[in-house]
Amino acid sequence: MSEPKKLYIKTYGCQMNVYDSERMSETLGGQGYVETQSPDDADMILLNTCHIREKAAEKVYSELGRFKGLKAEKPDLKIGVAGCVAQAEGEEIMRRQPLVDLVVGPQSYHRLPEMEAKTRTGAKALDTDFPEEDKFEKLKNRPNAKRGPTAFLTVQEGCDKFCAFCVVPYTRGAEVSRPADRIIREAQDLVERGVREITLLGQNVNAYHGAGANGDMTLAGLIWELNKVDGLERIRFTTSHPNDMADDLIEAHGTCEKLMPYLHLPVQSGSDRILKRMNRSHTAESYLRLIERIRAARPDIVMSGDFIVGFPEETEEDFQATMDLVEEVKYGYAYSFKYSTRPGTPAAERPQVDPDAADNRLQRLQALITQHQREIQDAMVGRKVKVLFEKSGRLPGQMVGKSEYLHSVHVSDADVAVGELRGVQITASGANSLAGALI
Ligand code: 5AD
Ligand code: SF4
Repeated sequence: MSEPKKLYIKTYGCQMNVYDSERMSETLGGQGYVETQSPDDADMILLNTCHIREKAAEKVYSELGRFKGLKAEKPDLKIGVAGCVAQAEGEEIMRRQPLVDLVVGPQSYHRLPEMEAKTRTGAKALDTDFPEEDKFEKLKNRPNAKRGPTAFLTVQEGCDKFCAFCVVPYTRGAEVSRPADRIIREAQDLVERGVREITLLGQNVNAYHGAGANGDMTLAGLIWELNKVDGLERIRFTTSHPNDMADDLIEAHGTCEKLMPYLHLPVQSGSDRILKRMNRSHTAESYLRLIERIRAARPDIVMSGDFIVGFPEETEEDFQATMDLVEEVKYGYAYSFKYSTRPGTPAAERPQVDPDAADNRLQRLQALITQHQREIQDAMVGRKVKVLFEKSGRLPGQMVGKSEYLHSVHVSDADVAVGELRGVQITASGANSLAGALI
């Protein structure tokens, strides 16, 4: 028997890319590939790229440059670029970096086996189409291999919102939802393989409207269906848009026992003037009222969000409005970024904020967010939570898992196995995690 070929995948960016990389690896498994952790012994290197951060494409080119030596040593080595940079740059990647054999956009991953075969003939393979067919259905089924207790499952892709700063509508395309029965089947399969917690993924996951048995299903409808899957203990979803936070989803947060009390709901800014310029189509006030309703349904919910500071034309007063909003919401987690231009997006052409002022605002915002994050984490001390144990800790006998609120919790001398869900009394709050004892 011939040796299996080795595939090295490097994944950048969001959880959706993590999920896509798993599916690409499984699909290329059908072509005789097994994954390797090192590029040095790979027969194929695949960079699954992200376009959301500044100079994303430049970083990919410099990463590719580093494979020159490897390719010289091993002329049969195939190098591929997938993900949003592949979509955005397309053919340009092969022009600028001739060692690249394959460029594949996120909507064409099911065509990878044919593309790989084409590269084996010495030809280059490029596909950045937005095909009609359902890529997830065409991607090879997940093999029966055992899995860890948590998994991602993409249910929706793309976005029709066109926020003025964002590349997603261009790189991931229009919003598309997967049919509900296929998602439920995939969830059942994951559970059979050991998964206890599933995070439903989508760039605009709460806009989900996949075909169901009786017409289109909402995200809440899908969550209720998944709630019935035996052996599945926890459901999460990310990322949501405030305008798609439907009543049935808010209600599910109060009544659906497997839906976890954690919600990532980006607002981006607290200034209505900036929100309008961002094309966000909600106001600070409407966002705050929405959070009130969510908290009325689920009082202990931990909120999370994303912020952009230094968006074109942002003044100190606009920034203060963001600080005020953060002060009011008190996020358990939040991710804040300095605005950076993305060519082709509407905001790219506008007058930029002084970079030093933007840096200074980012620091102030992050300090406030960190303070709240700490307060919320510290307030867990003395409480009983449920922990899904995911792995052993750094110390002997220590086990680590996540609470329902997504806090990392470690327990010493814990007689528990990976995948167990157990009650834990929280005893201390550390830098980035909680300590506790099994109840
Ligand atoms: N500049 C800075 N941050 C951005 N994000 C998206 N596009 C940009 C940009 N051009 C941030 C948003 C989004 C998160 C995933 O990345 O906050 O919610
Ligand atoms: Fe980008 Fe999210 Fe806005 Fe869509 S809703 S354009 S993914 S920031």
